[in-house]
Amino acid sequence: MAQQAVAARALRTKLTRAMIIRSRIADLLTAPPPAAQGRPVTVWGWARSRRDSKAGISFIDLSDGSVLAGLQVVAPATLPNYGDLLKRVHTGTAVRVTGLLVPSQGRGQSVEIQADAIEVVGDVDPEAYPIQKQAMSLEHLRGLPHLRARTRTVQAIMGVRSVLAGAVHRFFQDRGFACVHTPIITGGDCEGAGRQFRVTTLDPAKPPRTAEGGVDWAQDFFAREVHLTVSGQLEGETYACGLGDIYTFGPTFRAENSNTPRHLAEFWMIEPEMAFCDLDGDRAVASDFVRATVADALNRCGPEIEFLEKQQAPGLRASLETLAGSDFAHLTYSEAITALERSGKRFEFPVRWGIDLQAEHERWLVEEHCKRPAVVTNYPKEIKAFYMRLDDDGRTVAAMDVLVPRMGELIGGSQREDRLDVLERRMREAGLDPAHYAGYLDLRRFGSVPHAGFGLGFERLVCLVTGTQNIRDVIPYPRTPGHCP
Ligand code: 4AD
Ligand code: MG
Repeated sequence: MAQQAVAARALRTKLTRAMIIRSRIADLLTAPPPAAQGRPVTVWGWARSRRDSKAGISFIDLSDGSVLAGLQVVAPATLPNYGDLLKRVHTGTAVRVTGLLVPSQGRGQSVEIQADAIEVVGDVDPEAYPIQKQAMSLEHLRGLPHLRARTRTVQAIMGVRSVLAGAVHRFFQDRGFACVHTPIITGGDCEGAGRQFRVTTLDPAKPPRTAEGGVDWAQDFFAREVHLTVSGQLEGETYACGLGDIYTFGPTFRAENSNTPRHLAEFWMIEPEMAFCDLDGDRAVASDFVRATVADALNRCGPEIEFLEKQQAPGLRASLETLAGSDFAHLTYSEAITALERSGKRFEFPVRWGIDLQAEHERWLVEEHCKRPAVVTNYPKEIKAFYMRLDDDGRTVAAMDVLVPRMGELIGGSQREDRLDVLERRMREAGLDPAHYAGYLDLRRFGSVPHAGFGLGFERLVCLVTGTQNIRDVIPYPRTPGHCP
């Protein structure tokens, strides 16, 4: 008896200590037995659901966000506050549980926790709490941007997003690319498309005026007009022409009125830039990059991909494995146009040489014509940016777009115009004043070298890997026209 009392006291002391040291559920589920089992632990989390058995035991599916799977908490009726728990533990209730981690009796999990104490930390009113136990549509959850991270689907998507962010850095760091942080506030317009958000500290109601009556930007914070960046490329180029191989990974802003499942006004872009590189080299890095990041996610996000496959994207894993192992097709823009013209398909946007490829054309090329990801190169110069290297035919530029199933364009890139005279001419043709790009032109004046790069829209990659249809569901707090909650 005395021995038992000592043991009980020892256990209580251990439990008190464990109260202070919180275990992450991810660590408990992955720790190999026996170390993990039979020891007192404390976990905190939100109840996903509660089930009560006739035998007077309740089971709580507990999530702390550290892992997609929940931890089963077994709550016996002998708990002193059992009656209170029945009233207060619903979907969303925050609890702290202390108990013993033991091999699970039930199926579907290796361990469970036999609770010695459950404390309600944060109540929910089940009538008012908008997140339900059963799966809710992503569209509905979009209206709950502050709560949707409590759901398994959004946790799975965001888990993959985080791993992909790591995969991006791993890919470039392993290959000796330097990570460069290009500015977010900028005076230039990289894409020359004029779809920029203005940054100003002037009072919009009464801005200072010039003698001619226009706004006097000289009196603004930066003493000039500035905007949020649409791309870090121009600054990236200057660092590539110094450091060799660089990449940026940062937020990008576009004030284009595109209300589509593939466009955001604020998105994250990865932009590598390589000195001593031409379009073929660019294409090789882009294809490797897509394959490697998808393979990385497949390796590290098994449970998330399995869950998303069941939830929203049948065949997801197989399609990603194919993508990670596939040789990307390569065709020129002219070849793509010929294929589209011969397809016999009626497109909403009619096809002829010179048009910008629309999503429907891109998807047909990838899904039906090439049946694998494809890189389309050498687009007409009229539909591409001024900085792309003019091809010898004078009609096309050394541009490339990487197209993938479901999403269409995932990457846009090019070899850059490295000849000063041609670049200045192209700028004027595009209605840009070379005087505003003096530093950029200096690269061509002093030790100009062939160089190339591309931009990958990170959210489009996340959509691809998670099998998510709408880009608004793969970024916390999506910003789209008329929408910035
Ligand atoms: O094709 P884009 O406009 O290319 C550039 O910005 C170049 N400066 C990149 C470079 O060469 N360094 O954009 C690159 C990619 C697109 O292929 C697409 O994946 C993504 O960025 N993107 C968007 N993603 C979400 N919402 C938008 N509004 C996007 N616009 C472009
Ligand atoms: Mg593009």
